Amino acid sequence: MIALRCSACASPLEIDALTCAVCGELPAFVLDTAAFAADEIRARSRARRASIDPRDRSGVWRFRELRPPIDEAQIVTLREGDVPLFDAPLGAAYAGLARLSYLHLGMNPTASFKDAGMTVAISRARERGSRVAVCASTGNTAASMAAYAARAGMTAVVLAPVDGISAAKVAQTLDYGAHVVAVEGDFDDALRAVRALDPSMAAVVNSVNPYRIEGQKTAAFVLLEGRDWNAPDWVVLPGGNLGNSSALGKGFREAYDIGLADRMPHLAVVQASGAAPFARVWETGADLVPVRAQTDATAIRIGDPASWKKARNEVRTSAGTVLAVDDSEIADARAVIGRDGVGCEPASAASLAGLRHLVQDGRIARDTDVVCVLTGHVLKDTAYATRYHESGARYANAIVRGSSVAAYLASLLGAHA
Ligand code: F0G
Repeated sequence: MIALRCSACASPLEIDALTCAVCGELPAFVLDTAAFAADEIRARSRARRASIDPRDRSGVWRFRELRPPIDEAQIVTLREGDVPLFDAPLGAAYAGLARLSYLHLGMNPTASFKDAGMTVAISRARERGSRVAVCASTGNTAASMAAYAARAGMTAVVLAPVDGISAAKVAQTLDYGAHVVAVEGDFDDALRAVRALDPSMAAVVNSVNPYRIEGQKTAAFVLLEGRDWNAPDWVVLPGGNLGNSSALGKGFREAYDIGLADRMPHLAVVQASGAAPFARVWETGADLVPVRAQTDATAIRIGDPASWKKARNEVRTSAGTVLAVDDSEIADARAVIGRDGVGCEPASAASLAGLRHLVQDGRIARDTDVVCVLTGHVLKDTAYATRYHESGARYANAIVRGSSVAAYLASLLGAHA
């Protein structure tokens, strides 16, 4: 019911292949969507949400029939995937829409969307007997891999750029017991080194691994389920290595083919302007030209995205678009998301910043039904948040001596009464 094929030339591939032996492109699982009945999937998911089986409580494993099978005893789950949709009144006003919601993938166990893919990739690695998992990362893949590898009793090895990744993410990764190698270079250099590894030495769990995509696509099912299977008009998300854009696109496409949703949302992928090779070639349809990436949204500081062809196919199928926003726009959008009482890390806020462009340009009308995908938690990059508030002399709103606190509070609260 599901087969591994080349995403470009469709050649059948050996299970666990990370590139096509014929053309060198990335593999992808192809699901026989005709074999599923939408009503059955909906009913099963509803029943599983009331179960206490750890697989059923996971928003990823709840949809396990829609993925390559993995031996139940090998599953490594931290109850990932079942994330909330939040109303976003301030975000809506900022973007120029009547209403908006956030799908907050930062509410996963290690606080980023990576967990939905990692639970599947590490479970598969354990099933095939891998002792070591390895990835290149700007921080979130690292933390996620480290946690799931620890739960699986596997060694985790991270290659991370030596400069410009969030210290909070590195600390989190070390906490879970991973071995962190600082690479003198950027994410793209680190990923090239990982992809050149002999695959028998370690399980590569970057999003070139199609099991990651099969996990991350369930975010589309969770989003639809949270809206009683009504698709929004648009889904807007940040793009870096473009694995998640491929995954969400695949999820919405499969949901539509199965009949779980009556239409597919348009996908809008938003890059940071200093790391926007995909946005640069989107309009022309030309092949991607890698860039040296630079942005303060360090999670998406990626200049040579591995999954750009897969992402392009999905965005085209959805009749969507790709665009870039400046770092200052990301900073402002992130602050707005915080004021909605939600918060996210900088890369996530590219979604709201991009949405604002699309509304201003008239591509999205005011009454359009839009979901912004937030990919990482606000505490993932505390240094960025601190810098933001310090730069506006807003590290604190007031400095009050201990003996004056009571009087200060009385006047402050009086003013807000
Ligand atoms: N948002 C966050 C918070 C991320 O960490 C990433 C990627 C993205 C968006 C982009 O997703 O690469 O699938 O297009 N982070 C990777 C990492 C590269 O190593 O943590 P993508």
